[in-house]
Amino acid sequence: MTADNAASYGFFDDENREYVVTEPRTPYPWINYLGSENFFSLISNTAGGYSFYRDAKFRRLTRYRYNNVPMDDGGRYFYIRDGETIWNPGWKPTRTELDDYSCRHGMGYTRVAGAKNGLHCDVLFFVPPGDNVEIQKLTLRNDSQEEKQVQLFSLLEWCLWNAEDDTTNFQRNYSTGEVEVENSTIYHKTEYRERRNHYAFYHCNAELAGFDTSRDSFLGPYNGFDQPEAVTSGKPGNSIAHGWSPIASHAVDITLAPGESRELVFLLGYLEVAEEHKWESPGVINKAPAHELIARYGTVEQADASFAELGTYWENLLGGFQLQSHDPRLDRMVNIWNQYQCMVTFNMSRSASFFEAGIGRGMGFRDSNQDLLGFFHLQPERARERILDIAATQFEDGSVYHQYQPLTKRGNAAIGGNFNDDPLWLICSTTAYLRETGDFSILEQQVPFGNDENNCASMLEHLRRSFDHVTNNLGPHKLPLIGRADWNDCLNLNCFSTDPNESFQTTENKAGAIAESLMIAGAFVLYGTEYTDLCRHLGDDAEADRAGAAVRAMEQAVIEHGWDGEWFLRAYDAAGNKVGSNENEESKIFIESQGFCAMAGIGLEQGLVEKSLDSVQEHLDTPYGIVLNYPAFTRYHLEYGEISTYPPGYKENGGIFCHNNPWVMIGETVLGRGDQAYDYYCKQAPAFQDHVNLRKIEPYAYAQMVAGKEAPLPGEAKNSWLTGTAAWNYHTITEHILGIKPRFEGLLLDPCIPTAWQGYTVQRQFRGKQASIRVHNPDGVSKGVKRITLNGKEVAGQIVDLSACGDSCEIEVWMGGAG
Ligand code: GLC
Ligand code: GLC
Repeated sequence: MTADNAASYGFFDDENREYVVTEPRTPYPWINYLGSENFFSLISNTAGGYSFYRDAKFRRLTRYRYNNVPMDDGGRYFYIRDGETIWNPGWKPTRTELDDYSCRHGMGYTRVAGAKNGLHCDVLFFVPPGDNVEIQKLTLRNDSQEEKQVQLFSLLEWCLWNAEDDTTNFQRNYSTGEVEVENSTIYHKTEYRERRNHYAFYHCNAELAGFDTSRDSFLGPYNGFDQPEAVTSGKPGNSIAHGWSPIASHAVDITLAPGESRELVFLLGYLEVAEEHKWESPGVINKAPAHELIARYGTVEQADASFAELGTYWENLLGGFQLQSHDPRLDRMVNIWNQYQCMVTFNMSRSASFFEAGIGRGMGFRDSNQDLLGFFHLQPERARERILDIAATQFEDGSVYHQYQPLTKRGNAAIGGNFNDDPLWLICSTTAYLRETGDFSILEQQVPFGNDENNCASMLEHLRRSFDHVTNNLGPHKLPLIGRADWNDCLNLNCFSTDPNESFQTTENKAGAIAESLMIAGAFVLYGTEYTDLCRHLGDDAEADRAGAAVRAMEQAVIEHGWDGEWFLRAYDAAGNKVGSNENEESKIFIESQGFCAMAGIGLEQGLVEKSLDSVQEHLDTPYGIVLNYPAFTRYHLEYGEISTYPPGYKENGGIFCHNNPWVMIGETVLGRGDQAYDYYCKQAPAFQDHVNLRKIEPYAYAQMVAGKEAPLPGEAKNSWLTGTAAWNYHTITEHILGIKPRFEGLLLDPCIPTAWQGYTVQRQFRGKQASIRVHNPDGVSKGVKRITLNGKEVAGQIVDLSACGDSCEIEVWMGGAG
């Protein structure tokens, strides 16, 4: 085995905003996401994965088998039959050794290319913004000296729409599959006869030598994807699936002279048809909408033009924040991959990745609010809509549905609520939206309670309910009651479960008004202050005074009852005992309350923040990031719930739960310790990691969890892509470290950087203006600004109001000691 460094598997191509995988046997499939609004696909570096329309559970177009052997089998595959050799441009599933292989994961597209015996095949996969179709443009080139006569086979396997049912309900499913074939288009019309108004199709723009729609016919009943009988024999079966497992495979004969190439376009489309137009004739689906979609993308020129548009789309999006620093790794995180992951988490929440099967969770209330922190600058209009959707799942008493379904936007009654941190995240996202956009009209928007259109209140009123939900649910120490859990889903202080068949998240065996959370207390001080400032800004002094008093009372309660001597406690359990105290045998210290109380600056003057963060460094910091708690639980603590079920070092039990590391980074910036904040940042940012075999997952994506210091393999990462880590890191690096902070009045410039940095520049779009910001650090400080100019003119204070300047706003910031 070669040295464990990133170069063994690929490299970043920053110019093209791509990660280039050069070795198909990555330690785990390294994936990308296609699609930006409604139609999405997951695609691995060997073209595994699947597609869905809006909801990965209810509208799954193609089938994928999680936790399969071999790993990542199934996707969209192209087989090339060149004489006796059968190969795939992405190596899988035949795994025929290639003469050359690469996979370029870019912004909303993936290009897989392979070469074998003088043939080169390149397939570009993408979803055009605004349409429900995956375009696959395939180019086959003959680099040999001889004429090549080859057969090309496509393959995908239809999912029978409901992805959960698809993996369980075989007594029904083996009888329902239905297809139609019309020229070079294969239609998946399963269940279209009854309640469905949608079908999918797979089209090829060439004349076919044959096709298959029955999996058994194409593969042969006992073969895997690696040895499809139709391909090995060179004879497509022209099969029509009736029930069992419908697939779509085109067979195309291609002859290429030396140097010649041929381009083909394949389209995987999804369509909905109005009830009265569903049928062309009895039993024959109305294909007019499909013909129309095909007519828009089916030629090489159209596919190329659409791909160019996708490039412009991303160029514009990413143009909202562009950094030039001394470190290309930092630039690549900020300018490309972190922003990209923020778009993915906005779209997917926690639904579909190679660790989330797309059938479990809907949109999480707290997750989706936090994901917005990295998204406002990308597409503020969609952020606005999301905030309103989320708010509509709140109840009159301020509590909320913990999750909602993306297809219906309705709260998920099966999970319910009582996660007492949830309401505060609505304040977090809404105030951040206001700071970014200045669009105060959102506060007047009428928003339902509990999705009931007949019972609405203004968005501002929803925020008040969120705020009051905390003060209406205080425990014995006047600290917030935790409910089922706070941010840490696995700290279940009212659960007391001895039944392995019940869920820790939804079971409360001892619902009582005792267990309290210091994390929620910190969040209340932080977001309660934002709410107070908002009321003040709106001129409602009475409400601001009322809220401010509640916030101060909470600060007092934390200082009196939440301080353990060297750090903040984590909670009080249902018996009123301390959690996360030096007195405890296990898990003496937790990260969440240190992070939140530090961000909120609780006890800053008394030195509590400094002490608490020093304790984090002493007990929780590791070479791979900060662990959640220490020492990890080694036995099951009935009174703590799920957290103690994980083996030490994993997940919420002593794992590095990356999502919460930025809270500590921000806390460090509250103290002005820029070197420490950035050190934590570098430990997490994917582009800074070089131990790829250990880390396993994509070098360009954040993971939810990295195994902690008490795990057998510290540094091993899991659960890439769908994690609040993306939004929080983006928020932290851009606002708290680089120090470009949107405020109601303009941009506040307040960097907190390593002392060694001499400066950097940022291009930032803000409320329709293009700001060019140049930061100088001549004295080598971490924090402190001595002078700011806007278009050459001195600015008083640190907030720059851009509304007065024209299209271009040149801002210069000089850091340094006072004077
Ligand atoms: C997962 C959940 C998130 C929770 C976190 C910690 O990431 O999606 O809601 O806060 O775990 O338990
Ligand atoms: C599990 C996970 C946790 C996640 C929760 C969501 O408990 O460990 O991270 O937040 O499920 O339901």
